Amino acid sequence: MKKAATSAPGKVILFGEHFVVYDKPAIVSAIHLRARVEAWIHDHPGVWVGNRRLLNHPASRAMEYVFEKTGNTLGVRLKISSGIPSSVGLGSSASISIASAGTASLITLGRIDKELVRIAAIEGEKIVHFNPSGIDTSIALYGGGGLYTRSRGFTPIVIPLKKILIIDTGKTRRTGEMVKRVREFMEKNKERFNDILSREEELIGEVIDAFRGLDLERLGRLMLENQNLLREVGVSSLEIEEAVKLALNAGAYGAKLTGAGGGGCVICLAEEDKIQEISKIISRRFKVYLAGLSAEGLREEEI
Ligand code: PMV
Repeated sequence: MKKAATSAPGKVILFGEHFVVYDKPAIVSAIHLRARVEAWIHDHPGVWVGNRRLLNHPASRAMEYVFEKTGNTLGVRLKISSGIPSSVGLGSSASISIASAGTASLITLGRIDKELVRIAAIEGEKIVHFNPSGIDTSIALYGGGGLYTRSRGFTPIVIPLKKILIIDTGKTRRTGEMVKRVREFMEKNKERFNDILSREEELIGEVIDAFRGLDLERLGRLMLENQNLLREVGVSSLEIEEAVKLALNAGAYGAKLTGAGGGGCVICLAEEDKIQEISKIISRRFKVYLAGLSAEGLREEEI
């Protein structure tokens, strides 16, 4: 194709971030905020934005990987438009990597080769991540909701929640640095870290059980316990703690950081008829989004 466009969703990790890097399961859902990547064939090899060649960027790395693997020496002009706030844990970079690889796949093969796109996007993510587990790219590709384990990949599950309240602490941070911080905790506290990993795995089983009965109170308690474990390994922050407290005082069942932490976003679980009220109270201090869950994964768009 001479030109093509795709879009991919952002995500929230409901339970299990960071521990997923150590091959423990995490529960993740696509959200209705999306990034769109369009590209046109260009005369010069490489990936270009306007007159500038894009180098060392997840989008260009993911596209060039697809070009290499399909035996092309193509050049493209690129336009990225994203409705996903960046560097706050909502998967903006992974969704751009997936959509870039998806668009490159359409241009070179005339179709979306999902496996090629998945691997190309992980190559792109390596530029910004220290040691990506692949959870963000999987959910941006497949959409919906699921259980993700590094060694077993993505298994779709039904997440019985329609919406989730997201609190943006306004503090941006780098995922790679937060992943390194957990690694340092692990190196200094090997035994305790193993206990934390075992508890996290059990906790995920309890979440699946609470999903079945849609037991929001229990899910809220499990969220708080997950937040305690994340705090212990060093990835919470003053803003996160403040947002969690605010959410609980406003009547939420539970709240926790989502994504890498250190700032970024907090998710908050509440009875559906209380969400508006809670959102109003929190919005006096932080930016809030009400995000639809289980959104569609990578898809071709009109261009
Ligand atoms: O980049 P973020 O903030 O969406 O976080 C990614 C999730 C981590 O578990 C912290 C890292 C990973 O690769 O799984």
